[in-house]
Amino acid sequence: MAVITGKAPGKIILFGEHAVVYGQPAIAIPVAKVKAAAHVFPDFEFRTGEIHIQAGDIDMDTFLSELDPQHPLAAAVNLTLAELQLEHFPAFQVQISSSIPISAGMGSGAAISAAVIRGVSAFLGRPLPDSTVSALTYEVEKIHHGNPSGIDNNVIAYNKPVYYRRGQALQFLQIEKETHWVIGDTGEKTPTLDTVSDLGKRHADNPRYYDEIFQKIGGIAQGARRALIEADIKTLGQMLNENQVLLTKLNLSCASLDRLIQAALNAGAEGAKLSGGGRGGNMIALVSPSEMDPVEKALYNAGAVNVISTKLAREPQS
Ligand code: MEV
Repeated sequence: MAVITGKAPGKIILFGEHAVVYGQPAIAIPVAKVKAAAHVFPDFEFRTGEIHIQAGDIDMDTFLSELDPQHPLAAAVNLTLAELQLEHFPAFQVQISSSIPISAGMGSGAAISAAVIRGVSAFLGRPLPDSTVSALTYEVEKIHHGNPSGIDNNVIAYNKPVYYRRGQALQFLQIEKETHWVIGDTGEKTPTLDTVSDLGKRHADNPRYYDEIFQKIGGIAQGARRALIEADIKTLGQMLNENQVLLTKLNLSCASLDRLIQAALNAGAEGAKLSGGGRGGNMIALVSPSEMDPVEKALYNAGAVNVISTKLAREPQS
């Protein structure tokens, strides 16, 4: 049996983070330059059914049977096995690697889960469809951060730009004209669980104030949908800036994010905002191709620990 590899990309939210948890629409795109991979292969040393998990990035080298079932990697493997309902399977190893920054708003947890689910199911001869990869990844996400909206597992499992609203059918965006984005990492790591639960408490204390902001953010995501498809960068830039003002009102920005956002705008970006959980992690800027270089440099000069440029490409004509 050969090595089977399950892969999944990183992601970035363009519009609507946090408000999406409260039922507003949001837009996210996959980022192929960073990815998670799970290499799965037979482990001839062990008896049937033994599962060995290695994840060098987090110094893990253990057996599934020794992991807490609530550990996200154990949950991803166990959910896959339960879905496949196999009575017997050979002993195997799962080796996990990822180039997606952790706790930085790029979906590293969801991408690792999706890669493991894909790799293990394919190794066992029953590759799961994207819809099931997404559903199982969502179950693991619940362990990561309690009340996930469902946007991360969808954009990552389908590897397509999505317009997502809780409880409604997922929409894939058919991009007509490309846009260019620069992602700057503050290097500050704040788990999404923390910002989502902190906002949850503040919302519970003052629902009217927060619901009004969430609605405004949802309105921006709704308006941005068409602008993104058509690459109307002036409108998109303005909407990114408006979304950032509202995220700041939600107390989700911080000094390092503000500094990178301002640096990108000063260097000629069309618009910029934080992306994902906030209070650190990544920001994104929309740029025209000629602004890409100066914006990348400005972000490094302003203290970014890593900068990734990505293109949202036009859909190939079928
Ligand atoms: C995290 O990538 C995005 C948040 O909106 C949380 C969620 O949607 O589950 C902050």
